[in-house]
Amino acid sequence: MAVINENYLKLAGSYLFRETAHRTAAYKEAHPEADVISLGIGDVTQPLPPVCIEAMHKAVDEMAQADTFRGYGPEQGYDFLINAIIESNYKEYGIQPDEVFVSDGAKSDCGNIQEIFSTDNTIAITDPVYPVYLDTNVMAGRTGLLQSDGRYAGVTYLPCTAENGFVPALPEKRVDLIYLCCPNNPTGTTLTREQLKVWVDYARENDSIILFDAAYNAYISEADVPHTIFEIEGAKEVAIEFRSFSKTAGFTGTRCGYIVLPKTVMGKTVSGEKKALNPLWNRRHTTKFNGTAYIIQRGAAAIFTPEGQKQVKATIDYYMENARLIREGMTAAGITCFGGINAPYIWLKTPDNMPSWDFFDKLLKEVNIVGTPGAGFGPCGEGYFRLTAFGSREKTIEAVGRIKDQLKF
Ligand code: MLT
Repeated sequence: MAVINENYLKLAGSYLFRETAHRTAAYKEAHPEADVISLGIGDVTQPLPPVCIEAMHKAVDEMAQADTFRGYGPEQGYDFLINAIIESNYKEYGIQPDEVFVSDGAKSDCGNIQEIFSTDNTIAITDPVYPVYLDTNVMAGRTGLLQSDGRYAGVTYLPCTAENGFVPALPEKRVDLIYLCCPNNPTGTTLTREQLKVWVDYARENDSIILFDAAYNAYISEADVPHTIFEIEGAKEVAIEFRSFSKTAGFTGTRCGYIVLPKTVMGKTVSGEKKALNPLWNRRHTTKFNGTAYIIQRGAAAIFTPEGQKQVKATIDYYMENARLIREGMTAAGITCFGGINAPYIWLKTPDNMPSWDFFDKLLKEVNIVGTPGAGFGPCGEGYFRLTAFGSREKTIEAVGRIKDQLKF
């Protein structure tokens, strides 16, 4: 009999969004008449920008003709997309085409990147955190067991709460890999350039690597929030950036993202020899991935055209108006909230410090609204609750009204 990877047995329950979906489905089954509104998982509701649809239709037609048909493409992505990404986002930082790797999304990339690092590396994650960073390290065996305080042994947790303004403090003990997400999922808060520089300096001084998730960068509205970690001097030596078209252009179901991994980012062998990470990731990517579909890459490239940028902005403005409505509505209901200014997530303090999962059940049962319990993102998320601004305007207004007018505190 084959022996299993026992690290999987260390994982706590099911993946967070499976658990919320499961509880919601059970409630709907028992109450088929309920008009349940989901502001839970961060899934978009507005259609793809018309430029993407047009570009993808054209690409489909190309696939129908022998002379324009495409089979396997470059695993790293087509030049037309990589060049558009660099031209729009990274030109001033000198990022080269062979430092960009197109993929099927940031979730896979954030999960897969740890494969190029030894399982002996120590990791730091913020708490609360997007569960993929942690769970994939648990699966790889880079952690000990889940302890009674809800934390895995061997992991450095960086608390991010209202008390510290959701800004993680540097770890007391040196770590090898640091996961940062800005704008942040789940808290919707951000780091300023100055605050991010503290981390880049730390990584440079300690030979650490920052895994920087910038999936929500398109939502930034404030001037002092960095759009890419490569805005920070020295980051090209210590940072890997993850980007996604999911939240930027509605690709949650269409799937496309990318990693930027400068050739100057180094790790070392056990014997201490310095090695660039870029060739390792290139080897991993080309061995395990056959490229994002040509049709999808054409759709993604279309968002970098002037018309595409206009259309993307219109959708982001739409979601951010939802964020404003949620923030104002929750505040009017007497609930303290954070985020929602540079991110499509609003992070609520639960009334009277109610446990997050209790608040989840209360919202679901009393007003038929689904959100995401903060505790599902880590122990420091306990007593918090996340709402997403990705709903339709109509459903968002309805949900805010129900919480304001019908929820009993
Ligand atoms: C979320 O709700 O946190 C997102 O949907 C996560 C993701 O992008 O995978």
